[in-house]
Amino acid sequence: MKVLIVGSGGREHAIAYSVAKSDKVDKIYCTPGNAGISEYAECAPIGAMEFDKITAFAKEKEVDLVIVGMDDPLVGGLVDCLEAEGIRTFGPKKAAAILEGSKAFSKDLMKKYNIPTAAYENFTDPEKALSYLETAKYPIVLKADGLALGKGVLICNTLEEAKEGVRTIMQDKKFGDAGNEMVIEEFMTGREVSVLSFVDGKTIKTMTSAQDHKRAGDGDTGLNTGGMGTFSPSPFYTKEVDEFCQKHIYQATVDAMRAEGRPFKGVIFFGLMLTEEGPKVLEYNARFGDPEAQVVLPRMKNDIIEVVEACIDGTLDQVDLQFEDNAAVCVVLASEGYPVSYEKGLPISGLEKFKDEEGYYCFHAGTKFDGENIVTNGGRVLGITAKGKDLKEARANAYAATEWVQFDNKYMRHDIGKAIDEA
Ligand code: AMP
Ligand code: GLY
Repeated sequence: MKVLIVGSGGREHAIAYSVAKSDKVDKIYCTPGNAGISEYAECAPIGAMEFDKITAFAKEKEVDLVIVGMDDPLVGGLVDCLEAEGIRTFGPKKAAAILEGSKAFSKDLMKKYNIPTAAYENFTDPEKALSYLETAKYPIVLKADGLALGKGVLICNTLEEAKEGVRTIMQDKKFGDAGNEMVIEEFMTGREVSVLSFVDGKTIKTMTSAQDHKRAGDGDTGLNTGGMGTFSPSPFYTKEVDEFCQKHIYQATVDAMRAEGRPFKGVIFFGLMLTEEGPKVLEYNARFGDPEAQVVLPRMKNDIIEVVEACIDGTLDQVDLQFEDNAAVCVVLASEGYPVSYEKGLPISGLEKFKDEEGYYCFHAGTKFDGENIVTNGGRVLGITAKGKDLKEARANAYAATEWVQFDNKYMRHDIGKAIDEA
């Protein structure tokens, strides 16, 4: 079978790695891909939002299955375009990807179907939002409705900050049209957990848990990023938490989407906060997490193609999803200055070491070929991932492997997985 993966980051590299392991697959393509992905896949320079070109490419190459990794094309309706041409595709259609594409939609869905989440109000009028803030409790959370590269969330400690935030999102349009509408919600405290799941429209099977580190600096300081590192499983995601979420959150979300006439097929990513009142949904994403995929997929025992096909065919209830009884940690190597400004095009050395070491992975996030050499091509450059028998061993292994690769301005957090010590 021929498989096309759409995307260019560490998540898509982890997906390509899993797809390459399948006996069913003879050939992998990726649009646009990156230097690391090209080890498994023939990469073509087509942007993820160039739907017509992707569709034409899939037809020309007689691709049997497309896996869409990224949020933008999912929310924009790439799956609908491909399916309209009879191309089998893994991922939600536009009507279902709205679960990630509109925070106002997802909040209303949760309210309507009693799925636990923070209390909130949606606003399309900045004046109404500003006057609501006058009587609100602080801190408070402001969220641009649409996609904003994970940066459209502002946590405001005072009325003044919050007013500024409303202006930034709705009037200055810092996040573009994503700020035409906004959610203002209650600030919650607790541990965060990411749970990814496969969904076939009616059945949901959750993967092993993970935790991301979103802030740029050690000790959760600095700006929000796409994610600086992950570990899996989360020791805080206990059996009791899982039972609660299975009962009140996961199936309830899938059933709600079906009831709304928006059946969801693909991956639902539940961003959860474990509050004192119990687990609550922080956000939904309509795709694998990045860098959650980098620690979850290497631990998956199933053939990913079998699972993906079961999601498309509506037979996920027959799949026994299984994960290894071990742990994995991913430390992101970024370019100094990320997420604001950083240099690109810096040569990377030491990558070959990963080929010989079992249980170690170097997932490329922002890299490209410059002639024979691989150079940096983004803020997040590599996701150095290692397995271990437990989280502590995986963490030690991952940090040891961060020393194998070198490039100028290499930057990483040194406390990925520190929470493990508190478990
Ligand atoms: P989101 O993109 O919705 O996941 O938000 C990004 C980050 O902002 C989350 O990972 C949390 O750390 C934080 N956050 C979002 N919503 C809330 C909330 N209601 N209370 C506290 N923190 C939040
Ligand atoms: N790691 C968070 C995300 O993929 O949205």
